[in-house]
Amino acid sequence: MSNTYYREEPVAPSFDRAPACPFDPAPEVTALRAEQPIVPLAAPEGAPGVWLVSGYDQVRQLLADPRFSSRYETQYHPVVGGHLPPAPVGDLTGMDAPQHTRFRKMLAGKFTVRRMNLLTERVTEITRERLDAMERQGPPADLVEVFAQPVPAMMICELLGVPYEDREQFQDQTRAVSDTGSPEAQYAAFIELGEYLRDLALAKRAKPTDDLLSDLATGSDLTDEELGGVAAFLLGAGLDTTANMLALGTFALLRNPAQLAALRDDPGLAAGAVEELLRYLSIAATGMRGVLEDVELGGRQLKAGDTVIIALNAANRDPAKFPDSDMLELRRPATGHLAFGHGVHQCLGQQLARIEMRVAFPALLTRFPALRLAVPAEEVPLRTDPSQIYGVRGLPVTWDRG
Ligand code: HEM
Repeated sequence: MSNTYYREEPVAPSFDRAPACPFDPAPEVTALRAEQPIVPLAAPEGAPGVWLVSGYDQVRQLLADPRFSSRYETQYHPVVGGHLPPAPVGDLTGMDAPQHTRFRKMLAGKFTVRRMNLLTERVTEITRERLDAMERQGPPADLVEVFAQPVPAMMICELLGVPYEDREQFQDQTRAVSDTGSPEAQYAAFIELGEYLRDLALAKRAKPTDDLLSDLATGSDLTDEELGGVAAFLLGAGLDTTANMLALGTFALLRNPAQLAALRDDPGLAAGAVEELLRYLSIAATGMRGVLEDVELGGRQLKAGDTVIIALNAANRDPAKFPDSDMLELRRPATGHLAFGHGVHQCLGQQLARIEMRVAFPALLTRFPALRLAVPAEEVPLRTDPSQIYGVRGLPVTWDRG
């Protein structure tokens, strides 16, 4: 299918963020949003149509419409220059109904209130342990290494029931996956972790313990391969995301001292502050869907076979939905943000992510009331690869010794 049916010249915006404000979406994308919340992108001759959707209403609408497919193989990737391969086994974000419905129901039934309550108790302890470690180590310290990465990694251990004796090695491997080391070392760690999780899942079948993976192993009809795949997917979905929210969120607070002080002085603000940080930062910045049949969206006619690129971060900054959208305002009602997605694929772990952030941010600011950057803000290393969850690769911080 060619893209010649467009009514105007396709655009090729830069997705680069402005160095002046690393928390903002790419200025060219937000500029388009005002006039053209859905716009055709330039694609090579003969390639399917590719659209950029950046308006809040249009993004929300398409995420709730089953005519937009999550299956990776329906999506044309303009940078790759071809269709994506199918998602790995167990990756819910690459499935459509009825396959997705089967996995989703199975998994949703295991994120129980009881399980979440148990995890709430653990996150308080784990956060305290990590803050103690940070205090012993510094100042200064790399917040990513001592706090933002280990807290969610330990929580994934709790969720999946990684035995205590394996946790140190598990932590090392998860660090190696998201590390700045060579791509080969990252890949090797990723494969090892996948193998470990598959073996763990099978061990839970034989000898269940009190954790979500055991519940899945014994209370679902997942095959061994699916069970291992789901475990690896949960690690991927729950670790990098929450770790980057904690680190980038702290960076954003340090750059907005009045907001930081408001949260530090009123921990009751935490729940609302977390929603606003999710909206403002939108670390899962973009997503894609394949168009299954001809469909109208935002006054545009999309064709079966087209692909949409969803700028979740730009949608969450749409002033039509959030007044003064580019301001971090912890007291604003940020409800309705799309940082966890929307529709049938909306994040299954959002409750857990919220529990972690509502505990971790206030605890960090209470323990280190004079926390500040240890380097100029421009020197904080950002994760600029658009295929990654957005965030920082390290966050050097310092404080006054008490
Ligand atoms: C702040 C942290 C997090 C953010 C920003 C986030 C964001 C997202 C987003 C945007 C999606 C939708 C993807 C799509 O529509 O294609 C999603 C899906 C998902 N997330 Fe999260 N997530 C976070 C934490 C977690 C955690 C802690 C877990 C579990 C341990 C988790 C598990 C999942 C799962 C299982 C899905 C797939 C749901 C489906 O496709 O039905 N996430 N997440």
